[in-house]
Amino acid sequence: MTDGMSFRGGVRDTENALVDPPAAFVEQANVTARGVDREWPECWARAADYLDWMTPYERVLDATDGYDWFAGGELNASYNCIDRHVEAGRKSQTALRWEGRLGETRTYTYHDLSREVNALAAALRDRGVEADDVVTLYMPMVPELPIAMLACARIGAVHSVVFAGYSADALATRLADTGSAVLFACDGYYRRGTAYDLKRKADNACLDVPQSVDRIVVDRLDDDRPHGDNYTDYAAFVADYWGETVAPVARAANDPLFEIQTSGTTGEPTLIRHTTGGYLAQVAWTTHAVLDLEPGDTYWCTADIGWITGHSYTVYGPLALGATTVLYEGTSDYPERDHLWEVIERNGVEVFYTAPTVIRAFAKWGSDHVDRHDLSSLRLLGTVGEPTDEATWEWYYEHVGRESCAVVDTWWQTETGGVLLSTLPGVDGMRPEAVGPPLPGVSVDIVDARGNSVDTGDSGSLVLTRPFPGMGVDVGESTGNAPEAWRYRTGDAATVDADGYVHLLGREDDALDLDGRRLWTHEIEAAIVGVEGVAEAAVVGVDAGGVTPYAYVSLQRGTGPASAIRERVRDAVARDVGAFATPATVVFTPDLPKTRSGKVMRRHLRQIATGEGVSDTSVLRNPEIVGELESVTDVSE
Ligand code: WTA
Repeated sequence: MTDGMSFRGGVRDTENALVDPPAAFVEQANVTARGVDREWPECWARAADYLDWMTPYERVLDATDGYDWFAGGELNASYNCIDRHVEAGRKSQTALRWEGRLGETRTYTYHDLSREVNALAAALRDRGVEADDVVTLYMPMVPELPIAMLACARIGAVHSVVFAGYSADALATRLADTGSAVLFACDGYYRRGTAYDLKRKADNACLDVPQSVDRIVVDRLDDDRPHGDNYTDYAAFVADYWGETVAPVARAANDPLFEIQTSGTTGEPTLIRHTTGGYLAQVAWTTHAVLDLEPGDTYWCTADIGWITGHSYTVYGPLALGATTVLYEGTSDYPERDHLWEVIERNGVEVFYTAPTVIRAFAKWGSDHVDRHDLSSLRLLGTVGEPTDEATWEWYYEHVGRESCAVVDTWWQTETGGVLLSTLPGVDGMRPEAVGPPLPGVSVDIVDARGNSVDTGDSGSLVLTRPFPGMGVDVGESTGNAPEAWRYRTGDAATVDADGYVHLLGREDDALDLDGRRLWTHEIEAAIVGVEGVAEAAVVGVDAGGVTPYAYVSLQRGTGPASAIRERVRDAVARDVGAFATPATVVFTPDLPKTRSGKVMRRHLRQIATGEGVSDTSVLRNPEIVGELESVTDVSE
């Protein structure tokens, strides 16, 4: 085994005692015992129980031809996210709370949401949109985006949300790939107070596709510009349909609900298709069991709806459970660096879900922004998207959670639809650095380069070994007919500790082969962020006739001088990982290039380090940092 190695740093340290979830949390938790009383796959029936089915399913899993979860069952996602709550007497409860860019707000009760979704569904139906047609939604964080998603779901159309930050070319590719003939866009949107034109990008994209595309535009910018002949104004589009109701179309469990592209942080983005029954069941159950959401809770996931996290845990999960979901148009630091905490305080948010990069940014700016807010409404904090290092976990737990919230670090992917690895917050102890055990019904293995299981504590490729309801269509490979023959290689490196907790170590594509050993980015980065004063770090391997590690480091406010930190960074890596991994070069930077879904773009850092030039920065939250880093010449010792 060449790529397994015993660990010398803190990442796999099971001596770290588990932190008990707060007693007050456990007392009220939705799930208080693992309670797996049924064998796989029957155990997944408990996820389907969180949905209302129009036709009950016949089998939990039919694996005769592909993987057909809840076979024979029929349901409608829009009914599950709206009607059943209205029917249960909760029509006046807030479903959606929109926080606009400069503090303006809009509130939609479940009744309002029902009216909006029905009117739009009726308009779409009259425009000729039918079940299985693909409708493209190229919109920023405005309420019309989840409304349009649910209107599509209502009539059985398949939505394809394209992140508003994507270029015209990216939109054209998506339109062409899906054959979509209906496009919703906004005229533009605001970011950090600047207006961006979206409609022109949409126009350019439509010129580039073979099909003709029917376009509807939502007015978001404060200008009087006409939308032009190519567009129907959204308000006019639905104007004649207020008060109409559209019966929710019965969809087979395996019928598609939406298509979405993977974020493409490393490889080429690919299109994933999610089913109606399996996806929604997994998302509803994990929202209940992992995010501990109750009907009526106020909940906020900071992810943009353009990514899977926003689909599953801003829109479908919380609405399926009848919670109040907060939709935030701004960025975490605009207009003020404490705007995020103000949104939590003002809305009395109970459950908060974000990316570790967001937390690290706040830790970097100092705790006073968060400390001055009353965050006592919070009871559970979640993270997703990247490994959470111990220092970040502790900062989140202490400063945001005030040591009285449960914390869940949740691992999953666009391909998996919903969470697969996480502690159950009312059941399991918390271990900073680890996501926790696989959820009940989920099985994993860690394998070496030859596909053999490694020993406990050794690192390798994270493989899922059993199908699960939220899996995207055609995700994974089968080497035989039995479901047991299914495997899905996640592309992540990980290790499992003696308690069965999984520790994520980074993407396999980002691995560094140093001195004949395979190291994963998080192993080195965890050592670096353990140095006092360091806020964030990213390590990449630069191949110049042998791989050398480059470290990009950003410091907490008021830390310095950098020269003293540089030595400490190197010492920490030598001590925790080994001298062979000591970064040849340490670059200090105010920020790291990150996607708006909160991932560090190590690929861009590699391109910067080798001087080959950064290709496409359109998905970055902070593209300006690329230019800054490219102009850094003093990267010497
Ligand atoms: C990474 C986002 C460590 C991982 C839901 C995965 C994580 C990729 C975690 C999927 C976590 C996600 N700890 N790494 N808790 N959660 N990742 O498709 O590399 O945008 O493969 O889905 O994010 O990113 P995606």
